[in-house]
Amino acid sequence: MSETGLAVKTNHPTIDFDLESYLHARSAAVDRALDGYLKRYAERSGTIWQAMHYGLFPGGKRIRPILLLAAGEIFGGARKALLPFACAVEMIHGYSLIHDDLPALDNDDLRRGAPTNHKVYGEGIALLAGDGLLTEAFHVMSGPEVLKLVPAQLVLQLVHELSHAVGVAGLVGGQAFDLEAERREVDIGVVEYIHVRKTGALIRASLRLGAQVAGAKPAELRRISRFGECLGLAFQIADDILDILGETAPGESAESGHSEWNKATFPSVIGIAAAQQRLAALRDQCLRELQPFGASAEPLRAISRQVAARALTMNGQLPNKEMQS
Ligand code: IPE
Ligand code: IPE
Ligand code: MG
Ligand code: MG
Repeated sequence: MSETGLAVKTNHPTIDFDLESYLHARSAAVDRALDGYLKRYAERSGTIWQAMHYGLFPGGKRIRPILLLAAGEIFGGARKALLPFACAVEMIHGYSLIHDDLPALDNDDLRRGAPTNHKVYGEGIALLAGDGLLTEAFHVMSGPEVLKLVPAQLVLQLVHELSHAVGVAGLVGGQAFDLEAERREVDIGVVEYIHVRKTGALIRASLRLGAQVAGAKPAELRRISRFGECLGLAFQIADDILDILGETAPGESAESGHSEWNKATFPSVIGIAAAQQRLAALRDQCLRELQPFGASAEPLRAISRQVAARALTMNGQLPNKEMQS
C-alpha cells in the first residue's frame, strides 16, 4: 500500500497499469500546486493561514483532484489548465472535513491520525480556516492565470456548477440531512439521498470539471457524470463499511466521536453484506460507463476497482465477482 492508501495493480486483462505510480505522481503535483497557492500570501505566518495549511497538509488520498486530472486526461486536457481546478476541489474537500469534525457536527478529535483542526487551533479559527479554504477555491479557479488557458465563459460555467454541487443542493444540504438523520430512524432511500449530496456531488463535480476543461463533448460529459454518480455513492458506502469494521486505510480516520452504527449509513441500515453487494454493483456500473473510453480511462477504471476493493476484501465476505470490462 502506498502513502496514498489507494495503490494496487489493476489486474486488467490487457493493460498493465501501475495505479500506485499514477496516484503518487498526481498527488505530488497537487501538493506542489496547493502549497504554491498558499505561499502567495505574504501574511501566511498568521494563525488562520497555519490552520488552512494544516487542513491541507499532510493530505489524504487527494482522490478528488486526481479524479479531476484523470477525467481531463481522457480528453487530452493540459495539466496546467487542469491543476487550478484540481486544487480548488481539494480546498473545498479540506474545508468540508474541518467543519465536519467540529463539535457541532461529528465532534471528532482525530482526522488522518492527527488532532482535528479545532483541537489544534480552537473552534473559532477552525471554522474560519474552513471558510477560508472554501472561498479560496473559487478565487483560485477564476484567477488571471486560469483565464489565459481556459475561456472565461467556461470558467464562469464551472464556478456556477461547482458552487451548486457544494452548496445547499449538494454537499451542504447533504451534511444538514446527515445531521438531522442521526436522531431518527431512516430508510435506505434517505441514506442514499444524503450520500449522493454530502459526498457524491463533489466527486461528480470534480470529474465533470476535468472533462469540461479538457473539452469533452456533451455525450462524453453525460457519461462521465453517470460514472461520477456511481463512484461518489460507492465511495461513501466503502468509507462507511470501513468505519464500521474499524479497518480504515493508513491515515484515514475511523475515530468518530459517536458510534458508527447510529449514523445513517448503508451498513447500519441494510447490514454489511447488503452494503457490500450494492458497492460491488456500483463498481460494475462504473466500469460499464467507462467502456467506450478505452485505454485512456484505465486510471478511472483502476480507481473504481480500488475504492470498492478496500471494503469488499474483508470480513470473509466477497461479493466481488466483477464484470469483464
Ligand atoms: C473522507 O474523504 C470523507 C468522505 C467523504 C467519506 P476521503 O476519504 O477522500 O478523505 P482523505 O482526504 O483521503 O483523508
Ligand atoms: C464526510 O462524511 C462528508 C463531508 C465532509 C462532506 P463523514 O462524516 O461520514 O466522513 P468521515 O468519516 O468524518 O471522514
Ligand atoms: Mg459527517
Ligand atoms: Mg465525519
